This record gives sequence, structure tokens and C-alpha cells, in this order.
Amino acid sequence: MHRQHAPANPTRREFTTVGASLAAAATSAASFTAAMVHSSRAAAQETRELRIGVIGCGGRGTGAINDSLSINSGVKLVAVADLYGRNCERAWKMMREAHPDKVAATDTSHDGLDGYKRILDDPNVDVVHVTSTPGFHPLHARAAIAAGKHVFVEKPACVDPVGYRQCLEAHHDAVAKGLAIVAGTQYRRQVNYAGAVDKIREGAIGDIIAAQARYCSPGIWYRPRTEGMSDAEYQLNNWYHFVWLSGDQLLEQGVHNLDVINWVMGDNPVSAYGSGGRFTRPDDSELWDTFGVDLEYPGDRFVSFQSRHLPNTLSDVGNVIHGSQGTCHIGGGNTGSRIVDRAGKVVWEMKGSIADAYKQEHKALIDSIRSGKPIVELRQMADSSLVGVLARLAAYTGQKVTWKFVAEESQLDLFPKDLTWTSSLPSPGFAVPGKTKLS
Ligand SMILES: NC(=O)c1ccc[n+]([C@@H]2O[C@H](COP(=O)([O-])OP(=O)(O)OC[C@H]3O[C@@H](n4cnc5c(N)ncnc54)[C@H](O)[C@@H]3O)[C@@H](O)[C@H]2O)c1
Repeated sequence: MHRQHAPANPTRREFTTVGASLAAAATSAASFTAAMVHSSRAAAQETRELRIGVIGCGGRGTGAINDSLSINSGVKLVAVADLYGRNCERAWKMMREAHPDKVAATDTSHDGLDGYKRILDDPNVDVVHVTSTPGFHPLHARAAIAAGKHVFVEKPACVDPVGYRQCLEAHHDAVAKGLAIVAGTQYRRQVNYAGAVDKIREGAIGDIIAAQARYCSPGIWYRPRTEGMSDAEYQLNNWYHFVWLSGDQLLEQGVHNLDVINWVMGDNPVSAYGSGGRFTRPDDSELWDTFGVDLEYPGDRFVSFQSRHLPNTLSDVGNVIHGSQGTCHIGGGNTGSRIVDRAGKVVWEMKGSIADAYKQEHKALIDSIRSGKPIVELRQMADSSLVGVLARLAAYTGQKVTWKFVAEESQLDLFPKDLTWTSSLPSPGFAVPGKTKLS
């Protein structure tokens, strides 16, 4: 399938609306709805209690449902699904303790690979949280929209070009049906991020010349194989280390930076060129330890993107935007934003809370459903995720790779065919530039 790409990013005027309203009312996510893509079909205003089902009850799955139940009134957790029954039980226990009035009287849980289908078949579920692992996001998000549910979907949206196009289909389907899809790229809803983008749009650093983005950290967990595990069972449990499930670290975590860079640049990149490698990973991990990728954006503007997982190295997560008249630093987590002029003087600063941002995305989702103006923003996160795929393919192959190729031509589909709990899934191993082919 070939699709014409059109920039999905809001206009300068819309950016100004977002940041200005956030800065004025840091807790009002309803203001976001003015700046997001709304369904073209008028949806009815929703006054009923909204009932939430969860697909994927791990760390973020329980975090996201807690965020929604904390910030929204008139919502209830009614059903959960996870590969493992124990994770469902844990989610119910946590939510019953934290939000006893916002949890259904009985635990409705579905385990296994098809458990998600029971959530989607359930007429008592209005809103579905897709907080499973990244390789499943296109499948789960698209199926949830097809089943007529509103959706929250965690980042990244996809790990390959075929998944990207499935996300675009889900986006268009949601628009046509008047359903909401809010994306888990929470920095879009963090006041100091939106504030920094507004300042850049207002001209505070002059013309954007170049940028740097970094997601550098000491690394991630590894869950070893135990005796008797099938390939599928092992990979699903140790998911971060398999590209079909995580997309590798530059996408899995770096998508936060890539999303901010796309936001600032107001477009998708034209091409990527990069390299990297691995020194410390367990033998059967497919991941690389380091990536350094140059992304070329329209207007001959270049972004240097680094992503690293190496023990005992400096953690550095953030973005630096270089302009003709100054530099904007947008730090990860709660480290804040600031603009420095050419004389080195700090001319603007703002702090923000990532915990608030995590909650605001759920307030925005529920408010948009209630108002009859459902937010549909999957395309924005699918684009940012495809930037990560583009960067990965450039580094893995040692070739210059174009956006046109990944968005329109590549048929790379990493999702296993006929996946079952006992599937044999031989790993292709880790990529070696010069040997690994572009496809
Ligand atoms: N926005 C953020 O800052 C942020 C932070 C952490 C994680 N995340 C995202 O949240 C997602 C989950 O990450 P996590 O840290 O919670 O991982 P996790 O391993 O703690 O949880 C993932 C859960 O999903 C379940 N799962 C996997 N495949 C499933 C399937 N097919 N059907 C049902 N359940 C399935 C697993 O059993 C597991 O319980 C990832 O996409 C990750 O990138 C986002």
C-alpha cells in the first residue's frame, strides 16, 4: 500500500494556542482539544460513565489506568487483559486499593495472546488502553478502533513500515467513526515542552538551523530464558531485547525525543544516515548499545540523534534546538526548558512535571469524548515512530535511507505469522552494517 505523506503537525497558530493555554492553566488539558486533530464526523456529547478496559497490565499499563482514574471523574475500570493472569490480578489489586469507587464490582480478566479480543468484544467497554508491548500496538489499536472503542495507545505506535501503515488506517478509521485515539507521547502535554515550542514558533531563537536529541541511559532489564520456554514465550517475556517487539532502544525510548524534534521541525525528516554497535549485550539480545544518527529535515536542517544503553555512562535525555539568534534546551523528565541568547544569557525558563503530563493525556482523552470532539492523534505518533524505524534501518544497514522509502515502499513486517504461545521464532540475531540488507 502506498500513501502520500502530508505533515501531520499543527500549524504555528495552533502551537501558540497549545502552549499559551497550558502555561495559563497548567492543569487544564481540555485546552489541548483546540489544537489536536478532531474527528470529521460529529460525535455525540457523552454524559454517561465511561468504562475502561486495559490491554497490557505491566508497569505502564497499571500506571496509565492509575493516571486516568486519578484525574477523571465518571470513569470506571471494568476489564483487563494481559498475557499473564498474575498481571491481571495485580492490576485489580492495585486499582481496588487506590481507587475503590472507580473499579467494577467484579474482576473481569482475560489472559493469553487472544485475551485482547475479549476486551474488544465486551459491550461494557467504551475506552481501551493499549499498553501492551510495542510490536502489538498496530494490531491492538487498529482492532480496537474497528470494534468501535475509543483508544489510548502507548508509544511507540509501530516498529516497522507495515505497522506504520496499519496505524494510519486506524487513524483514518477513527476519524470516520468519530472515535478518539490519544497517544502516549506525554511530552506533548508537558507545560515546559509546549512552552518551549511556543517560544520557538514566536521567533525566540530566530530561524531553526539544527538540533540535537539524546536518549542516553545506563540500560534496561534482561529477563533470562528459563527451561521449557518456547521461543515465543521467551521473547514475549524478554520483549525489550527483540526488535519485532521493541523496535530497539533508539525507537522504544528515543521516540520521545524524535517526537519532540518532529514537533519542533513541523515535519518529518527527508532521510537518515547513521551508525552504532554493541559491546555489552547478552549474546541472544538483538539490541545495539549505541546509535548515532543524522536526520536530514526539509530546509537543509540536520538533527544529530544519539541513543545509548551502556552501564556506568552518563544519563542524558533531552533536546537542544540551535537557532540563528539563540539556543533552546528542552530537558527530559522534570529538568525544564530554557532559552539562551547568543551572548550566553538565559532569556526564558520554564519547569514542568512529567507526572502531570502523564495524567493530562488521560484528561484530554476523556474530555474530548465527553465534548463530542474526539482527539485523533495516532498519525502524529506513528510519524515519530517511523522516524525511529528510519534511523534504525540507516544504522543497521550503513546506508542512507529516505523517508519516502520507509513510508511508502518498504514492506518490512517484523510481526510473526500465526503467532502462538508455542511458536518457534528463530532470532535473526543482531544487525551488522554491510551485511544487513535494507528491506
Ligand atoms: N510514555 C512513557 O513514558 C512510557 C513509559 C514506560 C513504558 N511505556 C510504554 O508502555 C508499553 C508497555 O511497557 P511497560 O514498561 O509497561 O512493559 P511491561 O513489560 O512492564 O508490561 C507490558 C505488559 O504487556 C503485556 N502484554 C504484552 N503483549 C501482550 C498482548 N499481546 N496482549 C496482552 N498483554 C500483553 C505483558 O504481559 C506485560 O504485562 C511499551 O510500549 C512502553 O514503551 C511508555
